[in-house]
Amino acid sequence: MAQLEAGDLAQAVIARMAESRDPRFRQIMTALVKHAHAFVQEVELTGDEWMNAIQFLTATGKMCDDKRQEFILLSDTLGISMLVVAIEQAKGIQAKGTGAVATPATEATVQGPFFWEGAPELPLGSDLAGDAPGEPAWYSGTVTDVDGNPVPDCPIEVWSGDGNGIYDMQHGEDAQMMLRARLRTDADGRYRFWSIKPTFYPVPDDGPVGDMLRRMGRHPNRPGHIHMMLRAPGYQPLTTHLFVADSPYLDSDAVFGVRNSLIVDFKKHAPGTAPDGRVLDKPYYSAQYDFRLVPSTQGVTA
Ligand code: BEZ
Ligand code: FE
Repeated sequence: MAQLEAGDLAQAVIARMAESRDPRFRQIMTALVKHAHAFVQEVELTGDEWMNAIQFLTATGKMCDDKRQEFILLSDTLGISMLVVAIEQAKGIQAKGTGAVATPATEATVQGPFFWEGAPELPLGSDLAGDAPGEPAWYSGTVTDVDGNPVPDCPIEVWSGDGNGIYDMQHGEDAQMMLRARLRTDADGRYRFWSIKPTFYPVPDDGPVGDMLRRMGRHPNRPGHIHMMLRAPGYQPLTTHLFVADSPYLDSDAVFGVRNSLIVDFKKHAPGTAPDGRVLDKPYYSAQYDFRLVPSTQGVTA
């Protein structure tokens, strides 16, 4: 019988995948078709609404180039990027057998669009801020494994926006790297560097995703944070942030990336001698955080 009723269409599409030789792809597409059809049924999507959705996705694609990835922004603002991060990390935790709640591993969060491969390798204690606007902040702490053993020589990529919430990559065609570096922990797994106290800023909202946020009645802001990526051989890579404890938008991050365990108190200090002996004639902040990595032999990193 050629004719299919509305309620049979999803099953008919799924049945046509019987010859697929990729079981994981088939599993994903089967679930996608089921959920997509259920969604269309649930909201009784009209032809005009479906055409609007197609135009929205077309505009999203047209906004993408080597500097701007509007689809990732869509995934971020719909909470999907963070869901994928959380599922990935939970696999490592489960396999370790420590239970999903009590893991001592540092939590991961979204990478965002402003990672730039090839940041300068700088010695520990360097100042990443240069002439960038912002209040000085001294960052320090350790990198250990989940049992507290130091991870020496651990590469740490650091990047953030400036004191006005602007990333170097947002300075147009002639953008120069700023407020980013690649450091390595010392023999005891310690790290330290100067940068600025990050401030809140909006995700790029001049494209279709910005229109969507406004229609949803949402603001585009992220709370102040600094990005860190730790990639030590023998350990699961960790992409995360440190969030500023007194920042606005911690409770309403536009990309749902906040984890309580990543919120750090930035202590304010009067002008004077900083922990590394540097003398400052203006107030500065200090932030301390210890990272814990999961050995790559533990967990499942599919
Ligand atoms: C960021 O933190 O840099 C970011 C993350 C997701 C979307 C936009 C920006
Ligand atoms: Fe960011």
